Amino acid sequence: PSDIDFVGRELFKYQESWYGNKMLQAIINFQRGFEPQDTDIIIASFPKAGTTWLKALTVALLERSKHSSDAHPLRLDNPHNLVPFFELDLYAKSSKPDMTNFSSTPRVFATHVPLHTLQEALKNSSCKIVYVWRNVKDVLVSYWYFKSALMKVEAERSLLESMFESFCRGVSYGGPFWEHVLSYWRGSLEESQNVLFLKYEDLKTEPRVQLKRLAEFLDCPFTVEEEENGSVEEILELCSLRNLKNLEINKIGITSRGVDHKNFFRKGEVGDSKNYLTPEMEKRIDMITEDKFGGSGLKL
Ligand code: A3P
Repeated sequence: PSDIDFVGRELFKYQESWYGNKMLQAIINFQRGFEPQDTDIIIASFPKAGTTWLKALTVALLERSKHSSDAHPLRLDNPHNLVPFFELDLYAKSSKPDMTNFSSTPRVFATHVPLHTLQEALKNSSCKIVYVWRNVKDVLVSYWYFKSALMKVEAERSLLESMFESFCRGVSYGGPFWEHVLSYWRGSLEESQNVLFLKYEDLKTEPRVQLKRLAEFLDCPFTVEEEENGSVEEILELCSLRNLKNLEINKIGITSRGVDHKNFFRKGEVGDSKNYLTPEMEKRIDMITEDKFGGSGLKL
C-alpha cells in the first residue's frame, strides 16, 4: 500500500512502517547485504528523538582517553558522519557498501527503522542495540523545524498542521511513531534481544545516571578512578547541545548526504511543543498516545 505524506510525497508501507521509494530500496539492500558482527553497536531511534546526542555520547564513551582534547573525533566531525545510518548512508546505493572505514571494533551504526525490520538485517547476531525515544509532541515540533530547515524555508504553521495530521495517521518515515517505540520497548524486555531503552527526557534530567547505564551496557563502565577524576562530567560537557552547536565543524559543515550540520542542533528542551501545538492538537495526540501505550508499562 502507498499513501501521501505532509509534503505530498508518496510513501510505501513495508513491514508495518512508511518509507519513500529510495529509502525502501536502501532498507532492502541493508536487510540482504549487512554482515553483522557480534561486537557491533547500533543506535536506533525515531527521527528527532535524540539520535545526534546518543551518537555523540556513544562515540565519546568508546573513544575516551584515546585522544588529546583537540584531536577528539567529535571536535573534528559531526556525530552523523562518525556514525552513519544504514538506510540513509551506507546502503543508500548498494547492498555491498565499502566498510573499510570500520576496520576497528566495535563498529557503531545507526538506524531509524523499527526493531522487527532491523532484526531481519541482524540475522540473530548478538549486536548491542541502544534505543532513544522522546515524547511525541516534542518529536513532532522538532521534525517540523528540521524539515523547514532542509527546505530552506521559515517554519510555517501550515506545514506543522499537515505534519500533525500525517503523524496522527502514522504516515511518516519509520512511522507510526508509537509502534516504533513499542517495538524497541518490547525488545528491551526480552533478555535475548540486547536492547537498552533510553528516554531523551531522562537524559536531560539525570544525565549522569543515564550515561553510566549506557557505559555499562556497552561493556565500558566507568572505573572508580574515572568517576573521581570527572570523566563522566567531561563526556557530558563535550556532548552537550551548547558545546556541539558551538563547534566550528557544526556551524559550517555538511554531512556526507548534504545536510547542514547546524540543522541537528536547535533548542533541546523538554516540552517546547507547548509553544506551538494548540490545546486541541495536544488533546488529540495525547489520546492516541494513551491508547497506543496503555497497558504496555511504558512510563509517559
Ligand atoms: P529540538 O528540535 O527540540 O531542539 P535527532 O538528533 O534525533 O535528529 O533530534 C534532534 C533534536 O535533538 C533537536 O531537538 C536537537 O536540538 C536535539 N539535540 C541535538 N543534539 C543534542 C544534544 N547534544 N543534547 C540535547 N539535545 C540535542
